[in-house]
Amino acid sequence: MTDDATITNTITDTIAAAIAAMPNAYAPYSQFSVGAAICDENGNIHTGVNVENAAYPQGSCAEAGAIAAMVMAGGTRIISIAVAGKGDMLCTPCGGCRQRIREFANPDTPILIADTNGLRQRFTLDDLLPYSFGPDHLG
Ligand code: THU
Repeated sequence: MTDDATITNTITDTIAAAIAAMPNAYAPYSQFSVGAAICDENGNIHTGVNVENAAYPQGSCAEAGAIAAMVMAGGTRIISIAVAGKGDMLCTPCGGCRQRIREFANPDTPILIADTNGLRQRFTLDDLLPYSFGPDHLG
């Protein structure tokens, strides 16, 4: 399931799912809607959006929602993840979400940054979170 060809085939669907999720964001404070989508080891795609809160620190990122959806559905590994947001700057995951992704991904796992027009830039987890700490450190 996780060979290179399969990853390539699922990337297009994962990006499309992240973009499709964006309008469901609840972002009344920032007005910055983000959609995220994960393809898991079974080929299933799970989406999430940012959900803000009047008590600002209680807001959660789109990536956190997509990870929760994956875990709820029985997925255990992130094969690829796409994040879609608007604006001139790339909507790259925040520091906390890089660590959240680290829990379920490999150094070479694709992190696909998109906007409403499609893919803008492709990173790996190791690009965004080098020398990271994860479950493998704990034995
Ligand atoms: N946000 C995400 O959901 N994911 C990202 O990768 C970057 C930022 C959200 C958090 C907050 O609701 C809004 O975007 C502005 O920071």
